[in-house]
Amino acid sequence: MIQTVSTMPFNDQKPGTSGLRKKVRIFEQPHYAENFIQSVFDSLDGFAGETLVLGGDGRFLNREVIQIALKMAAANGFGRVLVGQGGILSTPAASHLIRSSGAFGGLVLSASHNPGGPDEDFGIKYNVSNGGPAPEKVTDAIHARTLSIDSYRIFEADDVDIDTIGVSQLGDMSVEVIDPVADYADLMESLFDFTAIRAMIAGGFTLAFDSMSAVTGPYAVEIFERRLGAPAGTVMNATPLPDFGHHHPDPNLVHAKDLYDRMMAPDAPDFGAASDGDGDRNLIIGRHCYVTPSDSLAVLAANAHCAPGYAIGLKGIARSMPTSGAADRVAEKLGIPLYETPTGWKFFGNLLDAGMATICGEESAGTGSDHVREKDGIWAVLLWLNILAARRQSVAQIMAEHWATYGRNYYARHDYEAIAKDRADALMAALRDRLEGLPGTVNSGGTVSSADDFAYTDPTDQSVSRNQGVRILFDDGSRVVFRLSGTGTEGATLRVYIERYVGPDGDLGLPTGEALAPLIAAAQDVADIAGHTGMDQPSVIT
Ligand code: G6P
Ligand code: ZN
Repeated sequence: MIQTVSTMPFNDQKPGTSGLRKKVRIFEQPHYAENFIQSVFDSLDGFAGETLVLGGDGRFLNREVIQIALKMAAANGFGRVLVGQGGILSTPAASHLIRSSGAFGGLVLSASHNPGGPDEDFGIKYNVSNGGPAPEKVTDAIHARTLSIDSYRIFEADDVDIDTIGVSQLGDMSVEVIDPVADYADLMESLFDFTAIRAMIAGGFTLAFDSMSAVTGPYAVEIFERRLGAPAGTVMNATPLPDFGHHHPDPNLVHAKDLYDRMMAPDAPDFGAASDGDGDRNLIIGRHCYVTPSDSLAVLAANAHCAPGYAIGLKGIARSMPTSGAADRVAEKLGIPLYETPTGWKFFGNLLDAGMATICGEESAGTGSDHVREKDGIWAVLLWLNILAARRQSVAQIMAEHWATYGRNYYARHDYEAIAKDRADALMAALRDRLEGLPGTVNSGGTVSSADDFAYTDPTDQSVSRNQGVRILFDDGSRVVFRLSGTGTEGATLRVYIERYVGPDGDLGLPTGEALAPLIAAAQDVADIAGHTGMDQPSVIT
């Protein structure tokens, strides 16, 4: 019943910031998904008889690859697979399930916020036993294996029924189809004061949550509408669709524009939020008040003690390097450490495991805590709601008080998408060449105080990650950061992160574009973005 199939390596299976992401048509090549899954299994040791968690965000190809992964797990000797009903598991729910079931690891099928459908994106990510994305040493081993693989093992059988909750056998391996929502919703209920939030909603507080036709629909309906009593319809686009209704399931101001417009309207609800394809990102918009992800991290950290799960305080805060320094000021005030890591949630795992940090966040709309080892969109929304219920203030009031206490980090990210890869590489190379000469020079952004290519030494295992983004720092604390995205599937995306700090006594109410204009001009000049890319405008501003 176990077949060994000969195959040839594909030379494009290097995992990026978050697993292997490619166009569906690439994944549809014969043996493509199988090669990658076998390479994952071949890079791991000691999983015979152990549990594997399996699920995805429901996008196009999800069900097919679930079947392949089930049959390959059986042929490779796993003892049990826990699979979400219908093949569905949000990324944070998968992380929780790996931890709570004592699984060896998990396969999460998703391309996160990238669009889905026959002409769009698919992805496979392996998570380790702590519930978090595999660290670089594992993804490097997987990549090496993809380049030498010559066969894979697969169990020959009919497709498994993944739509009915219950247990079945695939050879010696058992397949347990589980409710993807219940355990996760219970975990949320254990961290937050659902009674207070329910009372706030019953008292007339209004919210809107946009699931963007992606995986959070069933989770959000259960938690916000059923357990917290928000009226039916609070969750918009609540049914997960294989192509996300032709939308881009990325909760930012461009792709969640409907929600944004609703939150800026005269009759806006008190609170609006959205999550992405696989449920790990979050967008927070108060009534007439957008909150940047970097500010959201700072506010959540400063007020986390309002929620029962964090009442004893935080051990530390971690943020990715391009994320603004707003959280640094909170950490300073709380007297706890602040860790600055490279982009990629996987870098937070060791800090969380070591008990060095409790809350983590990224500018890319990711926030989370040590409750799982992934970022968690619904978690961030619930922590906001818990804080609003405890403080009895609006989002706008909370932001104003926060800035008046800590100062404001004006912040924006400019993305230049679909640049030819060689041009993007040339831009970064030219920038790196200039770094040494920049300190002391003056440009429209001010006087450059230092310039470097960010390198990170993990404080738990001393592993070093280099070339994680070029930083140009100014002597008033402002900064411009340049890096290439590690999650795109076509060409290259240049990300330029622009930040200016204004103290509590400064001008806290400027429009962001105005506050950042001199730094934006400096970024153009220093990197010659227009010259290298031919683009005189970013394609997305968040
Ligand atoms: C994924 C990762 C994040 C990362 C984001 C952006 O969502 O989980 O940790 O911040 O991608 O990565 P990129 O390399 O595209 O900037
Ligand atoms: Zn995601």
